[in-house]
Amino acid sequence: MNLTLLSSPLQGFTDFRFRNAVHKHFGGIDTYYAPYIRLNGRFLIKNGYANDLALKNNTTLEVIPQIMTCLEDEFLFVVEYVQSLGYKELNWNLGCPYPMVTNKGMGSGMINSPEKIDRILDRVHSETDIIVSMKMRMGYADSDEILRAFPVLAKYPLKNIAIHARIGAQLYEGGVDLEAFQRCVDAAPHKLYYNGDITTVSIFREMQDRFPSIDHWMLGRGLISDPFLPMMIKNDTEEYPEDRMEVFSKFHDRLFSAYAEKLSGEKHVVMKMLSFWSYFAAAFSDTKKIIKRIKKCKTVAAYDVVIAEVLEHESERFIYDD
Ligand SMILES: Cc1cc2nc3c(=O)[nH]c(=O)nc-3n(C[C@H](O)[C@H](O)[C@H](O)COP(=O)(O)O)c2cc1C
Repeated sequence: MNLTLLSSPLQGFTDFRFRNAVHKHFGGIDTYYAPYIRLNGRFLIKNGYANDLALKNNTTLEVIPQIMTCLEDEFLFVVEYVQSLGYKELNWNLGCPYPMVTNKGMGSGMINSPEKIDRILDRVHSETDIIVSMKMRMGYADSDEILRAFPVLAKYPLKNIAIHARIGAQLYEGGVDLEAFQRCVDAAPHKLYYNGDITTVSIFREMQDRFPSIDHWMLGRGLISDPFLPMMIKNDTEEYPEDRMEVFSKFHDRLFSAYAEKLSGEKHVVMKMLSFWSYFAAAFSDTKKIIKRIKKCKTVAAYDVVIAEVLEHESERFIYDD
């Protein structure tokens, strides 16, 4: 079966700097979703979003922009913006679980309002020719909400529905609900993509066995924690390449340089890298110690020393393990 892997967006992490670095050093991802654009009632595209979607920053990647809104006019404004850049598709975020979003009837807080979803999709499809895809949780309070939204979604030629197999009220707690996801597979009016907790090749294989009709898989946190994962899934292997730490080190340096160019002040760059290490460290031994050491770094020089030691220690570990 043909296998398509997509990078699931993480606001604050998977911007064009991260996407380009992953694409150059690891590969394996077919399409990258950009983190959502949110207007907050102001019809203005912030510089951060504009930079993230600018074609000059995404020359070698296939990128799909995303919007989070519950307002028709905001949706239409963003459609016009992304089309002006040449994008053909806009993904709609109906998955965000955080109360400051869901309390305003956005993200997963909107799944339970099919009539509002209908109003937006109706205008978007009658007034524009953008391709719309969805990224959803299965509901906010219960996993049947999405089933009740399907008849409305069925009215429109959506490209696909990517489902993070949790409900909003869970935030990121508890496991994914695979039985509820199966109910979506049985009832969905559109092509489904699976998303949620794919962190290893063996977990991926279990998911693939359980859902043989799914051929599009989204990786979010698993990709950041272990950027080798997509290629290993594609090659159907649990073996890392022999030059694992060398490749990771080059990726790390590229990411670091990209943020050093963007952020002013050494402390900010180190803090940004610390946020990435909160994921990277999972694939290293002594996760907590790494985080603790980076937290203490006040300068780039101190950070460089810690990272050089961590990478050297890991390289030795892999040679020893062999
Ligand atoms: C810090 C953070 C930021 C996120 N930002 C977005 C976002 O901008 N758009 C979106 O659709 N999902 C966002 N998500 C959800 C992820 O894309 C993904 O659906 C979720 O983490 C489950 O997949 P995973 O287990 O592979 O990470 C975010 C998740 C986290 C933890």
